[in-house]
Amino acid sequence: MRVLLVEHAGFCFGVKNAIETVLRASARGSVCTLGELIHNRRTVDELALRGIFSVDSPQQVATRQVVIRSHGAAPETYEALSRLGVEIVDATCPFVRRIHEKARALARDGIQILVIGQKEHPEIVATMGWAGPGAVLIDSMAQACALRHYERACVIGQTTYSMEKRDLLLAEIARHVDELEVFNFVCATTSLRQKEVLALRSRCDTVLVVGDWGSANTRKLYELARQGCQAYLIADAQDPVLSRLDPDSTCGITGGASAPPQALEEIVAGLKARYSCVIETIAT
Ligand code: F3S
Repeated sequence: MRVLLVEHAGFCFGVKNAIETVLRASARGSVCTLGELIHNRRTVDELALRGIFSVDSPQQVATRQVVIRSHGAAPETYEALSRLGVEIVDATCPFVRRIHEKARALARDGIQILVIGQKEHPEIVATMGWAGPGAVLIDSMAQACALRHYERACVIGQTTYSMEKRDLLLAEIARHVDELEVFNFVCATTSLRQKEVLALRSRCDTVLVVGDWGSANTRKLYELARQGCQAYLIADAQDPVLSRLDPDSTCGITGGASAPPQALEEIVAGLKARYSCVIETIAT
């Protein structure tokens, strides 16, 4: 079997930073995370073994410190935590923070904000909080087509959004706005991984996307992969699909931004244990 790896898979900068931040806080005293730190069961379970649990709202915080995860939080959340007197340990990814600061500045200047993203995603919940009540959320072509006319507006959005879908939505949004500013919002990590999966799917019979279904950026990689070849989203090396692959095929491996590097290594080891493998890393 020929196994193709990509250069960028597994924990991104923001996720690594969030994990290191929570571990440092834990060494100083009791800590919880506001929402699960990342969308990965294995990592969340490992943190729980160290006594680090997540809570769903500021009112549930019972530790001395609380970590804001890489997705950031809305201003009301910071205010609620401050009122409780708990120490806020902020692990918001710098790329997300940049968007939240832009949202705050636009809202302050009274400029119409259009937000491309998924309504339920915690990053977008936070972004909408910074953008204020006048912001309009867009996640479908129907919503873009239904926009009214604006003389001036700025588009911001979700760091992990599909670039393909973003471009389609932007083309429609541009038809509704005279003076449109588009703030670059898909993070470099996301764009690199999406480009890499396109390269993988054109060279492979099968692509294994490592991560959890709960991770939006991982699901997007899987969607992109399966448009070009057979694809599977798997969490670990125990997945039965590893034993069902064609030994004479080419298998690509990538992983979402919240996939632990150990999971990727174990999957490669699992393939090597089952098949005679030639491993290559592709550069894009
Ligand atoms: Fe940050 Fe991009 Fe990761 S926004 S958390 S580096 S996917």
